[in-house]
Amino acid sequence: MAQAFDVLVIGAGPGGYIAAVRAAQLGLRTACIEGWKNAKGELALGGTCLNVGCIPSKALLASSEEFEKASRHLDAHGISVSGVKIDIAKMQSRKDAIVTKMTKGIEYLFKKNKITWLQGFGRLVSGGEAYAVEVGGETVQAKHVIVATGSKARHLPGVAVDNELVCDNEGALAFGAVPRRLGVIGAGVIGLELGSVWRRLGAEVTILEALPAFLGACDEAVQKEAWKQFTKVQGLDIRLGVKIGKVTARKAGIAVEYADDQGAAQKLECDRLVVSIGRVPNTDGLGAEAVGLKLDARGFIEADDHCRTNLPNVYAIGDVVRGPMLAHKAEDEGVMVAELIAGQKPHIDYACIPWIIYTNPEIAWVGKSEQQAKAEGIVVKTGQFPFSVNGRALGLNEPVGFAKVVADAATDRVLGVHIIHARASDVIQEGVTTMEFAGAAEDIARIVHGHPTLSEVVKEAALNVDKRSLNM
Ligand code: FAD
Ligand code: NAI
Repeated sequence: MAQAFDVLVIGAGPGGYIAAVRAAQLGLRTACIEGWKNAKGELALGGTCLNVGCIPSKALLASSEEFEKASRHLDAHGISVSGVKIDIAKMQSRKDAIVTKMTKGIEYLFKKNKITWLQGFGRLVSGGEAYAVEVGGETVQAKHVIVATGSKARHLPGVAVDNELVCDNEGALAFGAVPRRLGVIGAGVIGLELGSVWRRLGAEVTILEALPAFLGACDEAVQKEAWKQFTKVQGLDIRLGVKIGKVTARKAGIAVEYADDQGAAQKLECDRLVVSIGRVPNTDGLGAEAVGLKLDARGFIEADDHCRTNLPNVYAIGDVVRGPMLAHKAEDEGVMVAELIAGQKPHIDYACIPWIIYTNPEIAWVGKSEQQAKAEGIVVKTGQFPFSVNGRALGLNEPVGFAKVVADAATDRVLGVHIIHARASDVIQEGVTTMEFAGAAEDIARIVHGHPTLSEVVKEAALNVDKRSLNM
């Protein structure tokens, strides 16, 4: 007889494995299908995030940051270091060890919560009272299905990715040596993060971006500061408004022909090329058509605010549905769906999902930018405060950047918080919490903040909404 489950999760990335853990915690008989194999050919849980996304990229960002610090920034502390070297093989094995620790951790969570791991790729076969899903030549039955199949890198038409010369995120995280000249197509999150890694380690990095604006989703004040830091201070060569033409990849080098923002023909020669132009949802081989699961025009599974699809008892979460492609968004959708299946009434406030870009300075924001709010006809007040006069930032030798609070002029409710600073990732959560509780700038301003901390800059920015910052 076919195995039968209350909940069958397809995909064990951060969306899927968290959904499975929560469903199991709620007493539902749960299985999760995953067939991902890592570079060593071993089956691994964790999806893009743990294997070739968030976790390995942050490990390399940390290693390259230490290298840059040791090479260039310790002098300010009176520490002289000479002969700083990087062993790329060791840096990569440290990254791989972190990935293995994390992915094995999910295997432990599955065992602890009695979740069955069905190894292979799942295909929806039929619907009705219960769903039938085929995996590894077997068919299993489930009352509820959660599709969490994630996304994969979008490639340029006609440009083959071999992950040796022309790479997507997978190859770019695994270089065995620092390329002398690295070309990157797309100045988005991956382009900036991985471009930073290899620049810090010594590569000459050129980034070609189609749009005329840099980091268009960010508040304009942040865009300006980020542009200055990445290009003028750090030397990333970012060329905006380009149109990519022919790409020729040979062992001797890669040539990218493109038209610049004036329409003039240009050529970029590089030793490795990273294509980071966004990601596409993973629905190949899922059997969506067999059961009538509806996809939208861009190939995402159609889902409402509670991740319900057009089919009863079938949910879809994470990168394979609308909304930001972020691990924490996928995880929270996983929890929400498991709780819905168990009869609870959870919800997610999609306006309060933070974004973090782990460059240096880091860029973090939640909610609306000043420009977005104004475009929506909202009258806003804003407050901004620099890290350059914050004692903790100076002590850390990280004086660059600022925090900005965008508030509704009539109600003072916080609509957005924007931070650019080396440790913005750790400071943004105050903005998220304030917005989740529908807090006002005055609330942040009246809450006691520890001293000396970077969070005092957020408090001062909130005070500055009413032009009453205390330390400036
Ligand atoms: P995924 O993590 O993509 O997992 C989907 C899983 O489903 C995969 O393991 C796949 O093998 C499996 N699957 C697919 N089809 C089937 C099938 N038919 N049957 C069974 N299994 C299937 N986000 C952040 O929030 N912070 C970061 O710092 C961050 N850094 C990133 C860095 C990089 C380089 C990249 C590429 C992404 C990064 N992201 C980051 C984005 C983040 O990785 C994704 O948003 C997140 O992984 C999405 O989770 P998911 O569970 O929806 O899908
Ligand atoms: P992205 O959407 O962040 O950036 C892609 C960039 O490529 C855009 O600026 C776009 O205008 C540009 N582009 C698109 N087509 C182009 C073309 N033909 N020529 C030149 N430029 C072109 O996508 P990216 O960097 O690939 O990352 C994918 C997603 O992964 C991110 O959107 C994010 O959701 C997630 N991610 C999150 C991270 C984080 O949270 N820190 C880190 C890395 C990835």
